[in-house]
Amino acid sequence: MIDLVIFGATGDLAARKLFPAIYELEAAGYLPEELRIVGVGRKPWSEHEFDKSVREALAEFQKNLEADVVERFIRRTTYRQMDFSPESFEALAKDSAPSSIFYLSLPPDAFPVVGTGLGEAGLAREKGNHFRRLVIEKPFGHDLQSALELQATLTKHWDESQILRIDHFLGKETVQNILVFRFANSWLEPLWNAQHIAQVQITAAESIGIEGRGAFYDKVGAVRDMMQNHMMQLLTLSALEPPPRLEADLLRNEKNKVLRSARPLSSGDIVRGQYTGYLEEAGVKSSNTETFAALRLYLDNWRWKGVPFYLRTGKSMSKKRTTIAVQFREPPTQLFTDTHCDPGSSWVVLELQPNESLHLEMQVKTPGLQFGSRPVVLSTPYSNGDAHELSAYATLILDALEGDASLFIRFDEVEWAWRLIEPVLGANQPVELYSVGSDGPAGQHYLMEDLHRWRSL
Ligand code: BG6
Repeated sequence: MIDLVIFGATGDLAARKLFPAIYELEAAGYLPEELRIVGVGRKPWSEHEFDKSVREALAEFQKNLEADVVERFIRRTTYRQMDFSPESFEALAKDSAPSSIFYLSLPPDAFPVVGTGLGEAGLAREKGNHFRRLVIEKPFGHDLQSALELQATLTKHWDESQILRIDHFLGKETVQNILVFRFANSWLEPLWNAQHIAQVQITAAESIGIEGRGAFYDKVGAVRDMMQNHMMQLLTLSALEPPPRLEADLLRNEKNKVLRSARPLSSGDIVRGQYTGYLEEAGVKSSNTETFAALRLYLDNWRWKGVPFYLRTGKSMSKKRTTIAVQFREPPTQLFTDTHCDPGSSWVVLELQPNESLHLEMQVKTPGLQFGSRPVVLSTPYSNGDAHELSAYATLILDALEGDASLFIRFDEVEWAWRLIEPVLGANQPVELYSVGSDGPAGQHYLMEDLHRWRSL
């Protein structure tokens, strides 16, 4: 028997993401026969009430339900009320399978309590071939100090190799494809460096606002919510050296090296914005919290010395679009001066979402007598229409079951991302207002070097 124990099973994340993801795995036949799903919550629910809530979550958040798959899923589930007292953990230990995954779908202040409670009840101990794993979701701390403290608390009972930290961006197919695109095409890799690349722009724009999460978001802001984690992951995957093999620690070593090679940031490297109307959102105090952030950073290593990486993310922007856009340098001499377009505009654009695709923007001859150039775009969708693609959470839950940590964040990545970001966390800079539905504040353009310009969304 294997247990997947979901703490916070009566909560929003479980309903929106986890149950639909587990359903996907059930439907695809990926769940081990002997897997039991134990929902843990504080509510005094009966089995029947829990089943009902799972069914409702699936009906609302999972398309194309098949009745027999739903029944198979429900047959695996059981509910357990816990108050997080030592006795409740001991009782859990008595009923637990020798191999278990504890998924903390909980607010971050509960991580130390539950991590410790499990540990003290002996649930972090692995015997023989059995495993015990702890899955936690961002945020991993609120700053460097709190991240170090959380790690110190968890590692009293858990070995680092047992802790799987989720950054759901890594579960996205198109994010994993960054590695495949870079390292499965041998023509590309020789060009992927400062000699040939002029700039890299990484954008994660969202059209949604804070969606009623004001009380939470106001204490966090875009730098903590997106920049320190998702954006740093996109940066590391875009910039890392090829690992010798695709093994979790080899890959994560390379990601960490990228973070460690970043030049320290200062307040001149960031522009913070806030959409107009943010202060009127429920739960928001009259605050200087940023809903948009743009960063310029440099990686002081052999491959990237001198290439600016521009990162930006924001809410309430003109559209949802996440891209990595890489511009190649201009040719050393311009033969084709008879041109109305920017002669240096050769770009590779990985569009991670929502239109999962890849674009090569390059120059060809303008038809006609003269030698002019004009831009053309070669585009291809990422998907080949194969129905077996899994959602980000389904991928990550399956990897957690299989013990593959490649797509989970190791603590040194968390630590170095905080080290990098911390100098620009302080809100000692006013936020610049931008209109809802725009591409963000005008000030973001002051970050650009060498006549670079932000691409439009
Ligand atoms: C979450 C942030 O981690 O990522 C949210 O807390 C954000 O604020 C979300 O909206 C974006 O994820 P995705 O997958 O919709 O791009």
